[in-house]
Formats: sequence, structure tokens, C-alpha cells
Amino acid sequence: MEHQHAREPMNRRVEDGLQRGRAVEIVVDGLPVPAFEGESVAAALLAAGTRVLRTTARHGAPRGLYCGIGVCFECVMTVDRRPNVRTCQTPVRDGMEVETQRGEGQWPGIAARSSSRGGA
Ligand code: FES
Repeated sequence: MEHQHAREPMNRRVEDGLQRGRAVEIVVDGLPVPAFEGESVAAALLAAGTRVLRTTARHGAPRGLYCGIGVCFECVMTVDRRPNVRTCQTPVRDGMEVETQRGEGQWPGIAARSSSRGGA
């Protein structure tokens, strides 16, 4: 599966009249994505043109930012090797490693279980 950000990142940010935090870079599925301190991981990815943040456990259907306020959990990704992190509630940090989450995600060193619940 080719990732949306596997090309030169887009910039969908409003440029005029805003003060931003320090420019930083996060690494998403091994590729650099520009971000600014104070914005969420989901916002940085949205600005870069990335829509798919995870895939569902049962059918592998794509999911992305939905509520944007920490309620729906549609935006979960693996952040710094920790699965199920709500990226709309997680501020970027320079060098943060983010991965598109497949299904329920997986903790490092813990075998994945077969899923029979939830998700589309
Ligand atoms: S988009 Fe709903 S919890 Fe993040």
C-alpha cells in the first residue's frame, strides 16, 4: 500500500496572519513531515495532505481524522512505538516517530492477537 505522504509533502496550511511555534520535523512511516510546535500530529498530517491515519482491524478499511477533539478514536496511530495514540490530541515533538496503525496496533515485543471484535 502506497502511503499518501510517500511523495513530497503538501502544504495545506494558512500562511498569512498566523504565528506558529518552532519548525520541527516528525517521521511518519519513515518519511519526514514538517510540523510546528504546538500543533497536533493529526494537524501536521492533514496539512501535509495525509488522510489515512489507520486501517480497521476487520477489513483494513482506511480511517482518518473525524471529530478532532479526542472523542471518536478514528485518528489513532502508533507514536514512538506506542499503539492507539489519538493523534488529534498529541502534540508534535521534533523527531517523533509515527506509523500508520494497522488494525488494533501492536506493542513492541508482544505478539499480535487475532481480532474478532470491533471496527469495520
Ligand atoms: S479524530 Fe476523533 S479522537 Fe482524534
